[in-house]
Amino acid sequence: MKHSKNDESLEARISPLAKKTIVLGISGGIAAYKACDIASRLRQAGANVHAVMTQSAKEFITPLTLQTMTRNPVHCEQFDTAAEWKPEHIELAAKADLILVAPATANIIGKLAQGICDDLLTTIILASKARIMIAPAMNPRMLEHPATQRNLNVLENIYRYSIIPPEVGEVACGDWGAGKMAQVETIVAEVTAELVSGRSLAGRQIIITGGGTREPIDPVRFIGNRSSGKMGVAMADAAYSRGADVTLISTVEVDRPYPVVHVETAFEMQEAVESEFDNCDALVMTAAVADFRPMAVSAQKIKKTESEDIVLELTKNPDILDLLGRVKKPTQVIIGFAAESEELLSNAAQKLHRKNLDVIVGNDITVPDIGFGSDENAVVILSADGGKENLPRMPKRAIAEHLCDLLSERFMEMEEAPVAK
Ligand SMILES: Cc1cc2nc3c(=O)[nH]c(=O)nc-3n(C[C@H](O)[C@H](O)[C@H](O)COP(=O)(O)O)c2cc1C
Repeated sequence: MKHSKNDESLEARISPLAKKTIVLGISGGIAAYKACDIASRLRQAGANVHAVMTQSAKEFITPLTLQTMTRNPVHCEQFDTAAEWKPEHIELAAKADLILVAPATANIIGKLAQGICDDLLTTIILASKARIMIAPAMNPRMLEHPATQRNLNVLENIYRYSIIPPEVGEVACGDWGAGKMAQVETIVAEVTAELVSGRSLAGRQIIITGGGTREPIDPVRFIGNRSSGKMGVAMADAAYSRGADVTLISTVEVDRPYPVVHVETAFEMQEAVESEFDNCDALVMTAAVADFRPMAVSAQKIKKTESEDIVLELTKNPDILDLLGRVKKPTQVIIGFAAESEELLSNAAQKLHRKNLDVIVGNDITVPDIGFGSDENAVVILSADGGKENLPRMPKRAIAEHLCDLLSERFMEMEEAPVAK
């Protein structure tokens, strides 16, 4: 029987993960018991879930429990002669649409960061081209350890990997701090978003800016700001995974499969954005561009002088959003960001209209622990058509996915009601 469009959308709502194969990797941490709940929810959402356990994971939960939850055989052994002729790591690696490791121990994170594959799970991950999502869970001191932080950083910078950040709370051993695995609902939502987002931006040229500009004072000093560039990278990754032709123009260097143009100053950023803008469908300006720069840049390092004070004269930088908002074609979409320390809503709304933007994403920089430098943020999104949405604290990648949804909706509207070019 042929499905009607309505049947399809009903199925999509009831089983959003239908026809998706997920390899659920479970490593040896106390949170392993939560993997049963994750497996069950992913299966209920329609996914074909294959659990792969490390030897340590079997100390915490039994393969039998996971087999019942996934309704599939559980895989633990790398050298299993009972398996099909094709090694399991190749079979599962090729089959997976996504690999989720939850919980991910400090050990497995370290192994993955180094490319070590000494068991079935790590070997499958290395042999796969699927997207890999990692949900770390460990004691706060283990998470804080520079080795773990370095390993997480390595994985974050490999395009296929994304980290579902652990939460702050009381961990199983009684200690308090960051290290608690993200909630099951969050993990399932992130996996679902990743798998259903599809290629809704295929063929769209999207420019994304990121990071904070550095305005030189002399050869060693500059005026900068606290922007880490993480929102720009999250936005570029999200748009790229939906099929967009992405160019990231950023003050932070990252290794990505799409073009990344490295710039330092507001002028360099302006030049790079303007050279691409005419051909783009959308510009997303997450970068924190300095409003002012030193009037004169000293050719030599400024020396300590007899006098106690020196005066630095500043002059205004070009306002890239304002300039491009004026020349924007009706077929182009511009999304701006407003980091405000007061009157968030009214300042963001004014900026939206004054600069002729389609959407503005405002965040209150006085809220501790989120925004600059963090992997998370809480934002308000205002649209030129009067729309307003509050997104509570969530990973920047989730905010980026939301903005990608807005972009694809806008492009779809444009196609349905073509605007003059
Ligand atoms: C009771 C107990 C709880 C543990 N919980 C964790 C944990 O939550 N996170 C973690 O990284 N390691 C934890 N460990 C240590 C890991 O089990 C250990 O590093 C092991 O080698 C991990 O192996 P795997 O990564 O191959 O699963 C725990 C160990 C014990 C004995």
